[in-house]
Amino acid sequence: MIPQAAKIGDAKLLVDGKSYDLPLLEGTEKERAIDISRLRDQSGLITLDYGFKNTGSCQSAITFLDGEQGILRYRGYPVEELAEKSRFVEVAYLLVHGKLPNVRENDRFSQLLTQHSMLHEDMAQFFKNYPENAHPMAILSAMVVSLSAFYPELSQDQQNPDEDIDITTTRLLSKLRTIAAFSYKKSAGEPFVYPRHDLKYCANFLNMMFSSPVSPYEPHPVLVKALNVLLILHADHEQNCSTSAVRLVGSAKVNLYAAVAAGICALWGPLHGGANQEVMEMLQSIHDHGGDVEKVIAQAKDKNSGFRLMGFGHRVYKTYDPRAKIAKQLCDAVLNKLGINDPLLDIAKKLEEHALKDDYFISRKLYPNVDFYTGLTYRAMGVPTNMFTVLFAIGRLPGWIAQWYELHNDPAQKIGRPRQIYTGVNQQKFVPMAERA
Ligand code: ACO
Repeated sequence: MIPQAAKIGDAKLLVDGKSYDLPLLEGTEKERAIDISRLRDQSGLITLDYGFKNTGSCQSAITFLDGEQGILRYRGYPVEELAEKSRFVEVAYLLVHGKLPNVRENDRFSQLLTQHSMLHEDMAQFFKNYPENAHPMAILSAMVVSLSAFYPELSQDQQNPDEDIDITTTRLLSKLRTIAAFSYKKSAGEPFVYPRHDLKYCANFLNMMFSSPVSPYEPHPVLVKALNVLLILHADHEQNCSTSAVRLVGSAKVNLYAAVAAGICALWGPLHGGANQEVMEMLQSIHDHGGDVEKVIAQAKDKNSGFRLMGFGHRVYKTYDPRAKIAKQLCDAVLNKLGINDPLLDIAKKLEEHALKDDYFISRKLYPNVDFYTGLTYRAMGVPTNMFTVLFAIGRLPGWIAQWYELHNDPAQKIGRPRQIYTGVNQQKFVPMAERA
């Protein structure tokens, strides 16, 4: 059972001279909402809210974010503190269980991650038939939904009470990492590298990505730490587009794998997680065309250009995205430590500087979001651009799992089914084909 918001009174809605009382709710961070769930029964009215800009779809105890103040907390812990002091696997445990693991819990979780890291050999065969240039996100989503064929115990009864939550979570976390690395190897035309039992989560992923039978690879500790931080920054973000997709699809009581595959597909979009790939392509194109930052800013402001400054703006952050702040510092630190001088970082900083002084961006409260600086660190790791969103998906997975569990443990949840206002033609008389004009 998740904690429920307190009812602190009623709001009054006046329509056609008739007044309706609607419960006024308040959460633990004093966020208030008007509960309109019975409005249609009372009045015949629905609410209209394109893009659910102002609609709460659930009550949740997982992540708190305040877009005006730039606050992000997982289970009450500030993301800044977790990024500095914690590891991705620990944060995954925190999101799913609602508490940080003690040594024993952490050991078991890590052990299970190791135990579940292999893919069924029949699944490994699937990769072979994709075209060389297949986008890794296409492969990732298809492979994740395929897991339901290999682990059917979660398919029919998506909440198998006999299945340990740690086994479900670690199986998916661990296998997603292997699937991601295999999809990269497939696109690079290289042989798969299997997971190693002696390596921890992030080092293991880097090893599967970058070692090969002809060139051994030792994951650099700076990159291992950086990957931990980047995955933590992405680990959850309350009811964003992909998480809402997981919840909406999950509300039909499909299995976890199918719901997560839906989240991966939503994340792929350039307005969501796909923006990190778009940012890098934009920075590269600016660089290749002489580095004229002002021209790009002018283009982003021109509504007829159809161009947006990728990695800028956010539905909920109306100040600097706290994750972007950490990602920027991390990028600077990693490039410094590795002695890399990336001209694209200079372009990114110049773009930010110009945008933050420009009235268009100031008046619309458009700041860099998490995707603006993360790609530059991935690039320093040697991750190709088309894998950036895959890394985002690995990071977001614990959030999707935690939200899926919360959905299924909330007795108030219903199948997601919004309404609409019909604006089409009224009833017409059917005309036989021969008589039609
Ligand atoms: N460049 C230029 N103008 C922008 C940008 C941008 N990146 N983002 C928003 N605007 C403008 C819009 O044109 C609009 O202007 P108007 O009021 O004159 O019409 C205004 O700012 C508000 O924009 P909306 O699209 O209404 O805001 P919304 O909340 O629907 O969209 C979104 C948020 C999708 C993130 C948007 O800012 C965007 O497209 N950004 C670029 C893509 C991106 O970086 N996405 C990653 C987001 S973070 C994440 O999902 C992990």
